[in-house]
Amino acid sequence: MKLIIANWKSHKSRDEVTRWMDEFEEKFINNINIDSQLESNIKIIIAPAFPSLMLVSNRLLSPKLKSVSLAVQDLSNFPSGAYTGAVSTRNIDGFEVKYAIVGHSERRRYFHETDQEVANKVDLAINSGITPIVCVDDEYIMSQAAAISTENRTKCVVAYENLAAIGSGDTTPLEDVKNKFAKIDNSFGQIPKIYGGSVSSSNAGSFFDISDGVLVGTASLSVDDFLAIITKA
Ligand code: PGA
Repeated sequence: MKLIIANWKSHKSRDEVTRWMDEFEEKFINNINIDSQLESNIKIIIAPAFPSLMLVSNRLLSPKLKSVSLAVQDLSNFPSGAYTGAVSTRNIDGFEVKYAIVGHSERRRYFHETDQEVANKVDLAINSGITPIVCVDDEYIMSQAAAISTENRTKCVVAYENLAAIGSGDTTPLEDVKNKFAKIDNSFGQIPKIYGGSVSSSNAGSFFDISDGVLVGTASLSVDDFLAIITKA
């Protein structure tokens, strides 16, 4: 099973999300070479910004999109309560959110998230039945794993994303990715491991060969680019 995650980050207005979903629903299965065997081997996950969560959640009720799941790009590290501006697991209850990206390097870099805060998000997600997709880079693979309880570590998906590869057009060399995956196995245990950082249709095939999936930023913004990646799974 290959996970293919569209991380839209802070892109897309409400109208742009509607148009993306219209185009995706029309082209998915119908216009491209996604047969039922490929469909059962992939899990497509869309991570919109919070204001578009309800819109995407409603669109995913379409029977044509049954292999597509919903994710959030982040979560509050606090439970439901007096935390103005934060989005708790309770706030997203009822939207059929199956995954939560946590600890993305942009969250760590621009919002100064710590390993412990990310670990708290992991706990809150798991307690709500949401699978955390924990993003790690080399220097904090071990410290991030250490902050998460041994039991919960085994319930995560881990995304290896090298800072230099994100949004740059340059992917991390495959041998480096394999080495980091070995390090992730040592720290987290045998969990699904995915790669992120400038994934495109021209390089996705080689990452599918060595991983359990890909986390896609820039190339997920266009339906055609994203579908081209899916066909490589
Ligand atoms: P990118 O982003 O595909 O634009 O490199 C990946 C990510 O940051 O999740």
